[in-house]
Amino acid sequence: MNQHETPLFTGLKKHRDRNPVQFHIPGHKGGRGMDEEFRSFIGDNALSIDLINIQPLDDLHHPQGMIKEAQELAAEAFGADYTFFSVQGTSGAIMTMIMSVCQPGDKIIVPRNVHKSVTTAIIFSGAKPVFIHPELDDRFGISHGITTEAVKKACEAHPDAKGLLVINPTYFGVSADLKGIVDLAHSFDIPVLVDEAHGVHIHFHERLPMSAMQAGADMASTSVHKLGGSLTQSSVLNMKEGLVSHERVQAVLSMLHTTSTSYILLASLDAARRHLAINGHELMENAIQLADQAREKLNQIPAIFCPGADILSPSAAIDYDPTKLIISVKNLGMTGYDVEVWLRENYTIEVELSDLYNILCIITPGDSMQEINTLVQALHHLTDLCRTQEEVIPASVKVPDIPVLALSPREAFYSTTETIPLKEAAGRISAEFVMVYPPGIPIFIPGEIITADNIDYIFENMEAGLPVQGPIDDTLETIQVIREQKAFK
Ligand SMILES: Cc1ncc(COP(=O)(O)O)c(C=O)c1O
Repeated sequence: MNQHETPLFTGLKKHRDRNPVQFHIPGHKGGRGMDEEFRSFIGDNALSIDLINIQPLDDLHHPQGMIKEAQELAAEAFGADYTFFSVQGTSGAIMTMIMSVCQPGDKIIVPRNVHKSVTTAIIFSGAKPVFIHPELDDRFGISHGITTEAVKKACEAHPDAKGLLVINPTYFGVSADLKGIVDLAHSFDIPVLVDEAHGVHIHFHERLPMSAMQAGADMASTSVHKLGGSLTQSSVLNMKEGLVSHERVQAVLSMLHTTSTSYILLASLDAARRHLAINGHELMENAIQLADQAREKLNQIPAIFCPGADILSPSAAIDYDPTKLIISVKNLGMTGYDVEVWLRENYTIEVELSDLYNILCIITPGDSMQEINTLVQALHHLTDLCRTQEEVIPASVKVPDIPVLALSPREAFYSTTETIPLKEAAGRISAEFVMVYPPGIPIFIPGEIITADNIDYIFENMEAGLPVQGPIDDTLETIQVIREQKAFK
């Protein structure tokens, strides 16, 4: 196969050049039928390939032409047996992975700090989650991956599980022993599904953690749009056949996808794959070098710490992505949230995320030394302003006990509920999803029995000013629980 080719992107341009008379949707017909300001802003080129699955342009739901060819090229580039394009983001791909392996009542082993698409898929499929606690890093107040030991215990206790989901790498760029975990799960014939939302680039450079396909995982949902240069919302689902069938994956992907797939997004996946396959190594080499220089400069700022290999630990953090700059600001006497706001207001800098103790900045092939220098200058300035402050926020992370699951999340989601004061909710079954960020680990998911300790934990976090997320009542005075059945006389 020739990775220089872009069958989908090129096919669309050829179709446009034939200038067909269009009697089909989209009704803007190359932009002529739309708002003039938006049209000139977006540009005629983009609008001319905003097309739909008419016969010459293939169909994501049943690819046989240019989409099939583009997916085959992507499979070769990512080391997969099959690649499926997703225009429903990695969320859609994650739901596809889970619903491809789980039937109602099946068990799936998942880390506790999963993205909401995992919980959604568990509700849709009717699967029963078996939770593993991620490893916590008290120095930074963040959670890493899951240990091979924890996976072993879970597989031994639940050898009938239909899947194991692993987040690799984490949002902060930290990787567990994915190969060890895959080998272990495979010894139980349990397929491994990887949430690779933050790892599209890792496949293309040896200094980056091992990718899901390199580790032999069965499926991976990978956000090409986050770090691989395609347009927002476009992702891929890579798979190796064996424990999972590609026909099943195609069928589920199609069930979860819009029938009006955006060809702009699909073409951007095709082009991003070419760029990664041909230039990925060089692009990542430059980004890594830039990030290394940034890290060195940041670590010269008093009270700022930007870990490199220091983040590693032997159990659940065995590799890291150096292009993620985790900048610990706990010694500034400010929270990460405050630093984020200060950078926005004073330097027009937008960070990727912040929490109590850190900000996270990502370095990609789109950056240059100029952006790094602005960040370093801003943090020098902020440190000078904070010099007078002595306060240090201790980065200690507490994890709530995992509550007992009384109903499957799906049963709970579809049950009749009532709203009661949170203070009186101990012993009741939660109908809501409640989590505190950081560390982003759910306290309750629908179906779990609320305990007094968990309620205390929520209030402790709220008193510390941490955002508790999830419930409909965002003051958290009340919570929705499953209505109790009353016996009739
Ligand atoms: C860990 C993780 N998984 C999955 C997703 C979902 O990805 P997408 O936004 O492409 O749907 C995200 C998004 O931020 C994420 O952080």
